[in-house]
Amino acid sequence: MLACSQPVLKRLWYPVMPMNMLADGPQPFRLLGEEIVLWRTESGAPAAIRDRCCHRTAKLSRGFCDRGRLVCGYHGWEYDAAGKVVRVPQIVADGKDTPTRMAVDSFRTAERYGYVWVALAEPLYGLPEFEEAGAEGFRQIDQFYEVWNCAGLRLMENSFDNAHFSFVHRATFGDQGHPQPAKLDIEQFDDGFLMTSSVPVVNPDAQKTLLRIDSDHTVRHMKARWYMPFLRKLQITYPNGLIHSIVTAATPIDDGSIQVVQFCFRNDTEEEAPAAGVIAFDREVTAEDKFILESTDYDVPLDQVGTEFNMPSDRPGVLMRRMTLDLLTRHGEAESRRDGAVKGTGERPVLAVAR
Ligand code: FES
Ligand SMILES: [Fe+2]
Repeated sequence: MLACSQPVLKRLWYPVMPMNMLADGPQPFRLLGEEIVLWRTESGAPAAIRDRCCHRTAKLSRGFCDRGRLVCGYHGWEYDAAGKVVRVPQIVADGKDTPTRMAVDSFRTAERYGYVWVALAEPLYGLPEFEEAGAEGFRQIDQFYEVWNCAGLRLMENSFDNAHFSFVHRATFGDQGHPQPAKLDIEQFDDGFLMTSSVPVVNPDAQKTLLRIDSDHTVRHMKARWYMPFLRKLQITYPNGLIHSIVTAATPIDDGSIQVVQFCFRNDTEEEAPAAGVIAFDREVTAEDKFILESTDYDVPLDQVGTEFNMPSDRPGVLMRRMTLDLLTRHGEAESRRDGAVKGTGERPVLAVAR
């Protein structure tokens, strides 16, 4: 699937940037191939419009903010949050607004969990609700904001793949002696699914202090929720009651790259586990995923007939692909592929090994 060629993906919310990045003025972002500019309006709410001035095409992100408006850096035309040109300083010089019908496209924005979320078209679902946010005893730690050169679906299916720990994460928590993936259960919803699984893992020294678990091995009780198409929350509960709940978004920049936005919620304190240590361990783990995922083909086949082979632990990833394909089909779209081949709904692949 080529994400930028599937219009229905514009109808979903994506976290694009930490709110505090807007303190320095307008910021550019490419979302599903669309160049947008984000800024903070007078009320403090974020705004997003197309990043191209309708006068002489300058990027509006090279301008500045004034009284909550976005001012083009070339000739100073001023835009409001609806994308309308509300002042042309060359025509009305006394500081008053200029009546105009000129405008650029504007996009829906929301501020949630400290991030700006954008939907390029009428959203199909609401913003995800995370029970840990603001809950008694929980804190939020902002972890990473970085670009990966892979498809969003590759990172999503990796997050639900119990078979990769022993290999990709052999240097951190993966148990090389036990490559058999843990069993899993899936509950399906309209906008995604919930996978539950208990995974025995190695407990390296770096984690012993952060988890307050002394043993060399422990168990991760995982509740992983997939929100179509590129967002997941992985809630890990350890045997001592510690909850480490990681939100990872693979916000699609274009077909082959994603903005990884990751933050976590924990029910412990800074004194018990310093945020810097929590980030450092999760950084090491995600760097292991990134190294492999950036080597995968970004054109993930949703319709898998004759493409990739599967094993039983790929069930969440296969379901993800099937649900994404169903979403496209419901909205009258066929799957776009790089070779120009357009795939419809085909037979589902038969798993290579019986469960
Ligand atoms: S190019 Fe933006 S005001 Fe002229
Ligand atoms: Fe991983």
